[in-house]
Amino acid sequence: MLRAVVFDLDGVITDSTDHHFRSWQRVAAEEGFGLPEGVSEQIKGLTRRASLEVIIRNQDRQFTEQEKARILERKNQYYQEFVKGITSDDVMPGAKRLIRELKAAGQKLAVASASRNARIILRNLALIDLFDAVVDGNEITKSKPDPEVYLKALDALKVDASAAVAIEDAAAGIAAAKAAGMKCVGIGSSRHLAGADLVVSSIDELSVEDLIELGG
Ligand code: BG6
Ligand code: MG
Repeated sequence: MLRAVVFDLDGVITDSTDHHFRSWQRVAAEEGFGLPEGVSEQIKGLTRRASLEVIIRNQDRQFTEQEKARILERKNQYYQEFVKGITSDDVMPGAKRLIRELKAAGQKLAVASASRNARIILRNLALIDLFDAVVDGNEITKSKPDPEVYLKALDALKVDASAAVAIEDAAAGIAAAKAAGMKCVGIGSSRHLAGADLVVSSIDELSVEDLIELGG
């Protein structure tokens, strides 16, 4: 029986994916390297450092640890310029309704995000108080697709994986939730989210009943 729903943040609760990508584009242009084709989809859900490793793995040049640290720092600086401007108007359509309905139905709620900016974003969205637990990029040592972030969220909620459903927009996130033993809803196109138990094109289409049914 469903007892908890664990939400990814970027691309599920708020539409920040393009801003992550634009921040990478900006720093790549400054550093004089290009972003590989299709990389935007590949880095969805990965931590900042894991994203950088994917971005640079096929570049002709080598990057020292010092250069990598500088790139990561600047990427975050650009991304934080966007984060500062986030308000409650930036909640994905339907996300707040779903969160409220799940709470009213007695479900425990958590966020499991790779982002180290997750808490400030949730505060700016005026949603942080609605969650029983938030596990973010500051608390994990392994990037999705590793299940660590989901296992920590389940631990914080004290709910078994079999009684929880994850909501994700990234292939790496779906793999992480599945590896944690959870059912998972994919938000987006089934072309990229083949591992999900249910795929919907937007969170607005998702109902409490869909999640209860999935939770078994
Ligand atoms: C994930 C995003 O939620 O957070 C990734 O999908 C991002 O694109 C990752 O790299 C880390 O975010 P941040 O805010 O710590 O750079
Ligand atoms: Mg995401």
